[in-house]
Amino acid sequence: MCGIVGYLGYRQAAEVCMEGLLRLEYRGYDSFGIATVSPEIAVFKETGKISAAKDAVHLKGTCGIGHTRWATHGVPSRTNAHPFTDCTGKIAVVHNGIIENYAALKRDLEKRGHTFVSETDTEVIPHLIEEKYTGNLREAVSKILPLLEGAYAILVIAEGTEEIVAARKGSPLVLGVGDREYVFASDGLPILDYTRKVIYLEDGDLAEVTPAGYTIYQGKKPVERKVATLEWDAADVRKGGFAHYMLKEMYEQPEVFSNTINSITENAAALCRIREARSVTVVACGTSANASTVFAYLMESVCGIPTRVVLASEFKYFPTPKNDVVIAVSQSGETADTISALKIAKERGAKTFCVTNVLGSSLTRIAETTLYTRAGPEVSVAATKSFTAQVAAFMEIVNIISGGMLKKAVAEIQRYLPEALDCDVESAVELVKDASTLLYVGRGLSYPISMEGALKMKEISYIHAEGYAAGELKHGPFALLSKETPVVAVCLPGSTYPVMMSNLKEIKARSAPEVVIGCVGDIDAEEIADVFIPLPKVSETAGVILASVVLQMLAYKTAVALGTDVDMPRNLAKSVTVE
Ligand code: AGP
Repeated sequence: MCGIVGYLGYRQAAEVCMEGLLRLEYRGYDSFGIATVSPEIAVFKETGKISAAKDAVHLKGTCGIGHTRWATHGVPSRTNAHPFTDCTGKIAVVHNGIIENYAALKRDLEKRGHTFVSETDTEVIPHLIEEKYTGNLREAVSKILPLLEGAYAILVIAEGTEEIVAARKGSPLVLGVGDREYVFASDGLPILDYTRKVIYLEDGDLAEVTPAGYTIYQGKKPVERKVATLEWDAADVRKGGFAHYMLKEMYEQPEVFSNTINSITENAAALCRIREARSVTVVACGTSANASTVFAYLMESVCGIPTRVVLASEFKYFPTPKNDVVIAVSQSGETADTISALKIAKERGAKTFCVTNVLGSSLTRIAETTLYTRAGPEVSVAATKSFTAQVAAFMEIVNIISGGMLKKAVAEIQRYLPEALDCDVESAVELVKDASTLLYVGRGLSYPISMEGALKMKEISYIHAEGYAAGELKHGPFALLSKETPVVAVCLPGSTYPVMMSNLKEIKARSAPEVVIGCVGDIDAEEIADVFIPLPKVSETAGVILASVVLQMLAYKTAVALGTDVDMPRNLAKSVTVE
């Protein structure tokens, strides 16, 4: 969703902002813009891809702000793109979030003679500042903040000044502190090229940055904020010779899996409250919810601790048992639905945890305990390595709580993940790529893996795909089966195998072509499958995780064959910051 960047230092701000916006592209956007001071305010706005407009930007100045917009109020257009200026064109603002009371503010401002050009909520901000500005930008911004209802991260610049004033409430904002230069951004990625020293601004913070330094205020009082170090490296956010970020990130999974296992092991002491819980509720969305479902299966079957997964957007409709442990799971740590669910859980008195990949993200400020996945930055909208990292975190949590019951499975995954990545999915791609509907099926742990496989396929190839517990097909979805409806099945030796084989036969009897991911040497599964993808002989628990990588590869290669925009699929945003 929207992303913001600001630069003050000795470089050309427009160039830094454009580079920064490219780093934020992954969040999803439809238009973008930048403004610089030199000493007048100059603004450039455009719709479409940033890379296409890069050479058209000729703004001068060493102080500037930039924005990628994901339309909420008003259609994607140049007019509705940020930055916005006041009536005089002397104040420019970029904003992430939603100003809920903008309509009333706008009516009042119009009555007082202000002219608006866009349909956005943001445009009220520069006009409000205009009314209070008498030469001290920080003071003017601090006076209008109490008028804004909703969520915001804003950056403000003014003609004739060399400063950026920033404020945050509910939307993320990071300040990079370099050597004679400062970079604001919605997350750490645009900052990495300049410094790794960052301050995660807190709700209610107002920051003033000038060439002389930075000061952070809460109300009128200056406050100290810890300077943290970004763990990620600038090289992590480059494609590094891969055709797509998604492919690069998939190949990082063996390392990510081990890094995350270590991260949880180092934090073993924090797990006692989960071990002692009467029940555990996990809240998450999308891929994170699928990884959480793997956790629920493992917690119930290995540790005997009742564990349920509730979609974060539905959590408010579920009462939390008293003293329950609630774990919010989110790669970004910024998903609005998940943040809101965790806040509700906290209000209800739950013991709160979060599992996230982003240091200093919003979830980490709400949860009492944070467990980090160590996936590194994930740029592709389709989550791959962050899913594997979440599964790694969950497996290690269960392993520690159970006194080592998953040790063997963890070791098998570490050993065989590279082999799974090298699987041959070409014939499977041929079988599925022209279908209009695909069904993914599995049982036990293979069920959440099937849901994740279907999610990957639909989001990047745009083929309709649904994941089902294999036993559910006969309760309705069988009606869809025909030779035009391929079924992708995860069928591995172990507790689910015999009945899974029966399900495969039932599907076959209804003419649906089958792609079966099974275990090498399984002649029965190979015989029934139209396309058989063999995995190394490992335990069922390890096998389903290896299968999830094969399903990622199947989705990736299908999307490439169909020519979709793999890393930035249509209509989607990486970080979903609205409920
Ligand atoms: C999956 O590929 C998607 N990127 C999406 O489902 C994602 O997992 C979901 O939006 C939750 O994001 P989060 O993990 O950052 O909270």
